[in-house]
Amino acid sequence: MYGLTITGLRRRFDISGRSIDALDGIDLTIASGELLAVVGHSGCGKTTLLHHVAGLQRPDAGTIAFEGPDGPAASARFGMVFQEPRLMPWKTVRGNLELALKHIASGAEAESRIADALETVGLAAFADAWPHQLSGGMAQRVSLARALCREPDILLLDEPFGALDALTRSRIHGEFAAIRLRRPLTTILVTHDIAEAVRLADRVAIMQAGRLTAVFDIDLPHPRPLAAPGLAEEVATITAAVLGDTISQA
Ligand SMILES: Nc1ncnc2c1ncn2[C@@H]1O[C@H](COP(=O)(O)OP(=O)(O)O)[C@@H](O)[C@H]1O
Ligand SMILES: [Mg+2]
Repeated sequence: MYGLTITGLRRRFDISGRSIDALDGIDLTIASGELLAVVGHSGCGKTTLLHHVAGLQRPDAGTIAFEGPDGPAASARFGMVFQEPRLMPWKTVRGNLELALKHIASGAEAESRIADALETVGLAAFADAWPHQLSGGMAQRVSLARALCREPDILLLDEPFGALDALTRSRIHGEFAAIRLRRPLTTILVTHDIAEAVRLADRVAIMQAGRLTAVFDIDLPHPRPLAAPGLAEEVATITAAVLGDTISQA
């Protein structure tokens, strides 16, 4: 597992003559095995931050340093999950995972990784199912399995449950928490759902207009049921901080 340290990260976009500081000096350390949630309004720079961590975009300034099990590392392997499952409709669940393993693993090694990942997300029985046969929640678990089978060092989740209905989302939070106990991975979870952040994260960072304005430690044991003592208070505190109607704690 990998930790990472982001220092002075900046990225400016010019959109029709106007400059937007999508990342306006981000400093952040994420420990190995930690789940950090980033919450904030639409357009505050969350996706841009994930893209820079994954190396898909280059910053104007700043660095991202990775710390592997054997010390500093030049890069890391990433698993990404997006709001939409992005499964290939003409491939089965297994076929979709095989596609993700192209150039990474084949034959028995690939099959064992796929079986492992599907087992982890509780879909071992659905390897031969087609995407259209899956519910929204199942499809998102397949897309998580697709990321996991690549055995990433760091998991990057961009509003992965955002398209699910509220009941399914709440259920999948519980499932995801259980998956994390089975397979702990350094994870950045971007979400605008503060309850989701508080249920799943070790720390919750608030992002506003390209800056991290506060980071909250969530000192509640995992997994956290919906009605876990203290959970509602954390959600209220962080919601107030995002809305800016209280003094935020740095
Ligand atoms: N490729 C791009 N070109 C120009 N502007 C961009 C690009 N990507 C993001 N932006 C701008 O940067 C800001 C942050 O976007 P984004 O990271 O997608 O926000 P979030 O994920 O928090 O909704 C927005 O104002 C958006 O318009
Ligand atoms: Mg986004």
